[in-house]
Amino acid sequence: MQENRHLISILDLSEAEIEALLNKADDIDAHPEKYEESCRHKQLATLFFEPSTRTRLSFESAMLSLGGSVLGFSSANSSSASKGESVSDTVQVVGNYADIIAMRHPKEGAPMVAAMHSPVPIINAGDGGHFHPTQTLTDLLTIRRKKGRLDNMTIGLCGDLKFGRTVHSLIEATLRYEGIHYVLISPEELKVPEYIIDSLKEANASFEEVSDLEEAMPKLDILYMTRIQKERFFNEEDYLRLKDTYILTPEKLADAKEDLAILHPLPRVNEISVRVDEDKRACYFYQTLCGKQIRMALILFLLGIETA
Ligand code: CP
Repeated sequence: MQENRHLISILDLSEAEIEALLNKADDIDAHPEKYEESCRHKQLATLFFEPSTRTRLSFESAMLSLGGSVLGFSSANSSSASKGESVSDTVQVVGNYADIIAMRHPKEGAPMVAAMHSPVPIINAGDGGHFHPTQTLTDLLTIRRKKGRLDNMTIGLCGDLKFGRTVHSLIEATLRYEGIHYVLISPEELKVPEYIIDSLKEANASFEEVSDLEEAMPKLDILYMTRIQKERFFNEEDYLRLKDTYILTPEKLADAKEDLAILHPLPRVNEISVRVDEDKRACYFYQTLCGKQIRMALILFLLGIETA
């Protein structure tokens, strides 16, 4: 029997596998009817120990659109984790009920522990401030569709770069492509962690750390905005001081490129004014459609389901 493949970090996928997933998502977009029965009699469990709108619902919508079914829970309180059950016990049980599991957990490394004990594939749907590989696949698909490429561009990442797991995963993923320049825009307290700087240096990547969004704006091909995450702060005072550091408005886009693509993993709070939503460069709601399609492609891949 073949061993299960899991997706814990974006680096679990080779560049060729990522390209195949993006191509499959494009085919799903063009011919959704081809896939309507692909997962008939297959079940996806969504085990979410932390809140989510997009990730959980896009996984569920993805499986339903593939003809499969879904089960799961949306908070730790409604599961036996609230009685002290371990992650490893949970997945050994749920592995008897489902063919594949998507898990979000506040503890970094929890999905990796799950993968070590699970009889079925585990997908990391976000672990603490660590990684969020399916958001990264979503971001790569959005970038490729909007720019027609994944290399040779300047990517600005703005906001909470310290706790922002989507930022960490996106940097790890794009380090594989040539000619990327990173502009890391954050307040001093929320700079990217040292291990990400180490990855950038090891890859000999071109990057700069700055604090002024407007100054960086004219050079950007991609602007990846992120929320200052209240739930990751240890004290309210620091959160209140930093929460409105960056608020993107139409005025701040005055010197931006005409073909800039503005991404955000969402949810947003204040960091992008709703007035930006009308701008043709705003891609963040389109990004959520990409999220469903790439998760459809990923479920097929991890279940080893061949489609023409
Ligand atoms: N982007 C993202 O992970 O959103 P949710 O927290 O709503 O799943």
